Amino acid sequence: MNLKLRQESVEDYLAVNQLIKAAFAKIEFSDQTEHHLVTRLRKSEAFVPELSLVAIANNQVVGHILLSKIKIKSEHQIFDSLALAPVSVLPDFQNKGIGGELIEAAHVKAKELGFQSVILIGHADYYPRFGYELTEKYQINFPFEVPSENGMVKLLTEHALDGVSGEVVYPKEFA
Ligand SMILES: CC(C)(COP(=O)(O)OP(=O)(O)OC[C@H]1O[C@@H](n2cnc3c(N)ncnc32)[C@H](O)[C@@H]1OP(=O)(O)O)[C@@H](O)C(=O)NCCC(=O)NCCS
Repeated sequence: MNLKLRQESVEDYLAVNQLIKAAFAKIEFSDQTEHHLVTRLRKSEAFVPELSLVAIANNQVVGHILLSKIKIKSEHQIFDSLALAPVSVLPDFQNKGIGGELIEAAHVKAKELGFQSVILIGHADYYPRFGYELTEKYQINFPFEVPSENGMVKLLTEHALDGVSGEVVYPKEFA
C-alpha cells in the first residue's frame, strides 16, 4: 500500500466527511455526528488548516485527523492547547498503522507551529502508545464528566505543561 499524508484541501471535504461517517458508523459510543463537528470546526476560529491531515492510498482518502485550538483556563491564566478530534480511518484500511501515522504527523506539524500540547478524550488502550498521559496527572480538568482513563494529554515539548493546570475550554463548535 502506497500511503501519502498531506494537508486536507477544500476538494477533499466531501470525501473526508464520507470517510468519517463510515469510520464511526458502527462505533457504539458515537452519535454518528462527528462529520458535522468537523464541518463546523473547519469554519471556526479554532481551525488550523495545517492540522487537518488526510491519508491517501490508491488515490483515495482513507484517513483523516483534525487538531483544533482550545484553551486551558486556570483562575489567573489562559494557556493555548489543541484538541485531537476526531481521527478516522476507513474500516477496510484500519489496523494497518494509518491512524498512528496520522497522529504522529499531526504531532510533528503542531510542534512546528509552536503548539505545546494536545488533549483528547479517547480509548485508554490506543493513545498511550503515542505518548499520551492522563490529564489528571497534570490537574487538567474537563468541563463535563470524563472517565479518568479517557482524558489524555500529549506533551509536544518536555516542559510543555510546567505551571499549566485548569479547565479545558472548547470552542462553541464542539457543543
Ligand atoms: C481508532 C482508529 C482511528 C485507529 O486507526 P487505525 O489505522 O485502525 O489504527 P492503527 O493501525 O494505527 O493501530 C491499530 C491499533 O489500534 C487499536 N484500535 C483500533 N481501533 C480501536 C478502538 N476503537 N479502541 C481501541 N483500540 C483500537 C487496534 O486494536 C490496534 O491495536 P494493536 O496494535 O494493539 O493491535 C480507527 O480504528 C478508526 O477510525 N476507528 C473508528 C473511529 C474512532 O473510533 N476514532 C477514534 C475516536 S476519535
